Amino acid sequence: MEIIRVEGGHALGGTVEVAGAKNSALKLMAATLLAPGVTTLTNVPNISDVHIMGKVLKRLGSTIEVVDEHTLIIDTSNVSTWEAPYELVAKMRASTAVMGPLIGRFGKAVIAMPGGCNIGARKMDLHILGLEALGVQFENDHGYLHAEAPDGLKGTTVSLAFPSVGATENLIMAAVRARGTTVIDNAAREPEIVDLVRMLNEMGARITGGGTPVIEIEGVEELHPVQHRVVGDRIEAGTFLVAGALTGDELEVTGFAPIHLAMVLKKLELMGVQVEQTATGAIVRRTGKILPTDIQTLPFPGFPTDMQAQVLTLAALAQGSSVITENIFENRFMLASELMRMGADIRIEGHHALVRGVDGFSGAQVASPDLRGGAALVLAGLVADGVTDVSAIHHIDRGYENFVEKLRGIGAHVERLTVPDDDDSDF
Ligand code: EPZ
Repeated sequence: MEIIRVEGGHALGGTVEVAGAKNSALKLMAATLLAPGVTTLTNVPNISDVHIMGKVLKRLGSTIEVVDEHTLIIDTSNVSTWEAPYELVAKMRASTAVMGPLIGRFGKAVIAMPGGCNIGARKMDLHILGLEALGVQFENDHGYLHAEAPDGLKGTTVSLAFPSVGATENLIMAAVRARGTTVIDNAAREPEIVDLVRMLNEMGARITGGGTPVIEIEGVEELHPVQHRVVGDRIEAGTFLVAGALTGDELEVTGFAPIHLAMVLKKLELMGVQVEQTATGAIVRRTGKILPTDIQTLPFPGFPTDMQAQVLTLAALAQGSSVITENIFENRFMLASELMRMGADIRIEGHHALVRGVDGFSGAQVASPDLRGGAALVLAGLVADGVTDVSAIHHIDRGYENFVEKLRGIGAHVERLTVPDDDDSDF
């Protein structure tokens, strides 16, 4: 079994550069299906979720060449099927991002219904309602969603009941090939949506309003392949900024746009962290105590749910009590019980975490509950007394490239080890 072993109490310092955004790269890869030919994506993170999306595209008939680890050359000329198989969708829910482009290209798609994951049900109803408005008919058969637009796609106005990131993306990637104009009202505004809109417009789409709640898409006959650089990963950046906030040492994080993390930077300042924005990122340092603050996760530009675990860890060491409310996913506080094994004092009441700051963590054996919770446990280990062993680190590998190497590069005493699994004998 692989673990990440962290020895607490070591100062951090220097500069760490983040990779391209996982939550953009996966959708940009899916969008290549809309433009038969050779697309080049640069600044692609080398993470397991990207590898799975690569498998999905290959299964559909694409070829993919990896150049220098961060450049993908994707040829979708010969894509001839439109089915995303269960074994890949089950591994990664984001595989459903191929639904919009497949419908846009072929007028149909067959997508395995994604199971829930450990943070919530992860439903698809908003995707389905929106695409039905465009003329898509759905049938749920044996765990597969069969989508078909018998009369083609016709532009219309779609109002999303919730600004779902995935639903907004799938709708955009279908609407670019619809007859007429589509307006998405109450659209998600995340920076990754803006990155997708930017690439689609480079491909010949006519989309306005990306990053605002109203996105207008004028359908076009065809899209052509391009070269596009993936936007920097704001969540990876926020994760390292919290590492610096925890240890208090001066730490520079580069490779992302601070405006994409404005609410997080503001909350860090309220928690007693000095934040200096730079042209390519931000520098954090802390001289005084960590201060408590209340946080509500919300759709962008609100506080991002993907930074909730990291800031929960910081609040657990604050001088006072904080209330952290998770409004996006129904089960995203699993980190709390692992942090309590390290000495945190957290009580979960529904979708609120009541956090009473403690003086410090003690190192312990803990298990990653999910991607961001796993990263947060490694961060907790950085300031814990003694050694922390974090298991189930496959979760972390989904979204963090070279996480251990990057932490070592800024002074952390952390290593990736293989330890024997509990023996499976009966006694
Ligand atoms: C994307 O997931 C991200 N994943 C998530 O990041 C992120 O937490 C989330 O957006 C919110 O920002 C990728 O981009 C690959 P949603 P997505 O559709 O698109 C409910 C990470 O750690 N909902 O905005 O699935 C849903 O159940 C991951 O990198 C419906 O009810 O997010 C959830 O409670 C975790 N019906 C909420 O909306 C639907 O049809 C937000 O979902 C769709 C969603």
